[in-house]
Amino acid sequence: MVNLSVNLEINLAGIRLRNPIVLASGILGVSMSLLKRVEQAGAGAVTTKTITLNPRQGYANPVFVDLEYGFLNAMGLPNPGVDYFVREFFEGCERLNIPLIVSIGGGSAEEFYEICARICKCPMDAVELNLSCPHAKGYGLEVGADPQHVYDIVRRVRKCFSNKPIFVKLSATVPSIVEVAEAALKAGASGFVAINTVRAIAIDIYAKKPILSNVYGGLSGPAIKPIAVRVVYELYENFKNVPIIGVGGVDSWETAVEFLLAGARAVGIGSAVVRRDLEIFNEILEGLKRYLEVEGYDRVSDIVGLAHEVV
Ligand SMILES: Cc1cc2nc3c(=O)[nH]c(=O)nc-3n(C[C@H](O)[C@H](O)[C@H](O)COP(=O)(O)O)c2cc1C
Repeated sequence: MVNLSVNLEINLAGIRLRNPIVLASGILGVSMSLLKRVEQAGAGAVTTKTITLNPRQGYANPVFVDLEYGFLNAMGLPNPGVDYFVREFFEGCERLNIPLIVSIGGGSAEEFYEICARICKCPMDAVELNLSCPHAKGYGLEVGADPQHVYDIVRRVRKCFSNKPIFVKLSATVPSIVEVAEAALKAGASGFVAINTVRAIAIDIYAKKPILSNVYGGLSGPAIKPIAVRVVYELYENFKNVPIIGVGGVDSWETAVEFLLAGARAVGIGSAVVRRDLEIFNEILEGLKRYLEVEGYDRVSDIVGLAHEVV
């Protein structure tokens, strides 16, 4: 287990995390009992799968391709809808002892507001707006690429969540990440999650057609890590005091450190949990702690953004 002589605690827009390693959205975040396992595995916070207003079946198979260097998925945001979610997460007796970030997705500001109206009184710590999923028609990136839409959505959500952090999950594939981020902040966002999967295609060379039923999917895992680090770096460069959860290809303590140095205050893990299971949390925490000790830092927060100081 991790020896706590080095302080791994971080403050994320007013939420205290015991350590900066967070479960990313879409991975195990579908039931309270699975999230409880992630808590026991050592995570500092957990994010739910994206919840929409109405239940969604998702796309037909195939929805997932395992590439050597990452995964390509087009699940199509399958989820049981917000009413079921509230019953599953908040009406049972199980509670988490670490912060719970609820990811939500809608096709318009009004739809986001409707979801928020149903969850804002629930015992959750922050909301994450999925404005970046690259394959769900009418959702995610289709509403999140336009700074004006982003502004309208965040403003509407802020009306419901007057005193809880709002994180906006961003895509790397927008013309200007800084413009989208600025619009979100102007409307009242508290921080960013960067990045979602990257729109991509894989082709079956014998069937001579795209593998995914939806044709387009989202690429995750090691293949997107340098892109995610670039986005985090760019966000930190422009908005130094705004907390960032860096996500994309983190599969070791070394990659987690890279994100922290680029400016992420916390680091999300997605594909590596699918690939390696829950021991990845403790492995990253042990390595991070050793790194901080060897490099002579008392607190993990001391290394956030350090890569900017030497350039
Ligand atoms: C199978 C799968 C499902 C995902 N579902 C969601 C989702 O519901 N909402 C969301 O915002 N991101 C979702 N993501 C994106 C991840 O949260 C993360 O941003 C992305 O995979 C990059 O991180 P990684 O390389 O660690 O996986 C999903 C990713 C995968 C692989």
